[in-house]
Amino acid sequence: MEKWIEKIKDILKEAHRLILDSMKESLTIETKSNRRDLVTQVDKNVQKFITNQLETLFVNHKVVGEESYTGSIDLNGHVWIVDPIDGTANFVKQQKDYGILLSYYNDGIGQLGFILDGNTGDIYVAIKDQGVFVNDKRIDIKQNLSLKDSLISVSVEGLFIRNYGQKISSKAFGIRYKGAAVQDGLMVINGQTGAFLALQSGPWDFAAHIVFAKELGLKCLKLDGSNRQANDHGFCVFGQEEVCRELLEIVKGIDNENC
Ligand code: IPD
Ligand code: CA
Ligand code: CA
Repeated sequence: MEKWIEKIKDILKEAHRLILDSMKESLTIETKSNRRDLVTQVDKNVQKFITNQLETLFVNHKVVGEESYTGSIDLNGHVWIVDPIDGTANFVKQQKDYGILLSYYNDGIGQLGFILDGNTGDIYVAIKDQGVFVNDKRIDIKQNLSLKDSLISVSVEGLFIRNYGQKISSKAFGIRYKGAAVQDGLMVINGQTGAFLALQSGPWDFAAHIVFAKELGLKCLKLDGSNRQANDHGFCVFGQEEVCRELLEIVKGIDNENC
């Protein structure tokens, strides 16, 4: 396993180099579901690169990438899920606060999660039953936060469209939002925030986070409080258990009021 992990880290480093080199070129920017949902030639090239590398290494594995997603993920067998650039809007507008998300599942059970931080090049790895490592150093989280002492990331849709903002900011210590599942997730993993709540997400936005959650004693939950699965879409709260539970109570209360 270790040999493969090192190989995959090399693939991610090379993919990051492709992204950094692309900043010297002009971007071809297209929109997908709406004017804020962007894709560039860099997303497509990086996905192609990672997919080709994984398919060469593991001939009988499936690789599912955001930019070639066809509407569902069959988790039977060996499945890799890749988001070649998470935070494309940040990449286009700010040239920072993006990253790469990659995970490996076997029959629906998360085996490996990788998060490459585009700002630093650091690679975080979650290994089933072994823990989480950043640049080979083990990390742990102090599991003692409650909502009133926590900074919380909430997506813009959560803050304004569902109107969770006022209630959450009155109960939490404060709100911080980076605008990419990779960066908002890393704030949780690094113990800087208590949780990250997102409304609109694809499987690739949280498939790696699920593996990290398991290894760090965190939660990755759906609106009904059940565990998110790798092929789920939509609402997700990722973070410390107590904080996630308190947030779920708040959002369910608001959703019920609005019914
Ligand atoms: C997006 C980011 C963003 C979230 C969107 C995602 P993308 O990913 O993670 O935080 O609000 O739902 O789609 O499109 O940049 O890979
Ligand atoms: Ca994404
Ligand atoms: Ca993406």
